[in-house]
Amino acid sequence: MQKFKILLCTSVLALGAGVGAAQAAKLTLYCSAQEDWCQLMARSFEKESGIKVNMTRKSSGETFAQIKAEAANPKGDVWWGGTGDPHLQAAEEGLTQEYLSPMRDQLQPWAIAQAESAGNRTIGIYSGALGYGYNTELLAANNLPEPKCWKDLLKPEYKGHVQMANPNSSGTAYTTLATMMQLFGEEGGFEFMKGLHANINQYTKSGSAPIKAAARGETTIGIVFMHDAVKQAVKGFPIKVVAPCEGTGYDIGSMSIIAGARNLDEAKAFYDWALTPEAQSLALQVNAFQVPSNVNSPTSDKAPDLASIKLIDYDFKTYGSSATRKRLLKRWDEEVSTLPQ
Ligand code: G6P
Repeated sequence: MQKFKILLCTSVLALGAGVGAAQAAKLTLYCSAQEDWCQLMARSFEKESGIKVNMTRKSSGETFAQIKAEAANPKGDVWWGGTGDPHLQAAEEGLTQEYLSPMRDQLQPWAIAQAESAGNRTIGIYSGALGYGYNTELLAANNLPEPKCWKDLLKPEYKGHVQMANPNSSGTAYTTLATMMQLFGEEGGFEFMKGLHANINQYTKSGSAPIKAAARGETTIGIVFMHDAVKQAVKGFPIKVVAPCEGTGYDIGSMSIIAGARNLDEAKAFYDWALTPEAQSLALQVNAFQVPSNVNSPTSDKAPDLASIKLIDYDFKTYGSSATRKRLLKRWDEEVSTLPQ
């Protein structure tokens, strides 16, 4: 921490000298994690650095689309959080820029691997497994059996009981789509998505909305990251978290600096800070139970234990590539979302 403070002070001083006293240092942060975590990160960094943060929370796919739309006149500086696939696509499309943080040597190998596969235009900040959660009271009230596998969700008795996000806007839902491709093959994966569509009551914009709806009793089952379901259970809602029997995908939540960032020094200062154990442990204050990427950051004992979950060897290179993501989303739009329910 000491080392980081010195580093931050030097860069803020340098900024002060360069920018002049009239213009306060500022940062535009695009955030794709949960709103409460985004707020806490923004306010904590402001306090730590004196840099004013203007933060907007949007889902991963939406933020990608916004950065792309703004590419000729970039407005954001850092994109923090959200699933790794659209960060990889942004890197491939030159929408984000290379940065080698002095914090790199403290990171888990999976966080560095993500960076290296993208020419260091992104980096891993946390990880978590996909699954689903269900409202135990609604399940019992509807006389439904306990689902344990992905394929259970296709059974006709769950019609109208399952909610997930739209994979165009949500990184969680794109991870779901890509997971099915990897578990069942592309044709089998699309057959699965079509079968699931018949049971879906709503496609939401944000990835975690379905489990919040399940907690409120508005849907029985929500397909989400397991840590987002744990968050609702910890709040006291009757939510049971499922690691599907066939195995499941996972994400490497990522961070990238936007190409052409207007506040590049502030962006780097945020980036370095966000990789410290102090910044990463803020997650615990808002019940964000992802596994942090700094080896010295604490992981909650409530966090789903990735070592005990049957994880697929998620192919980030393929599913985070521009061509594959575009093609799968187009296919989902044309072949799945248009089907009658
Ligand atoms: C939740 C998960 C994160 C993920 C994010 C993406 O916050 O906890 O792991 O990065 O969703 O949100 P989205 O709305 O894009 O699905």
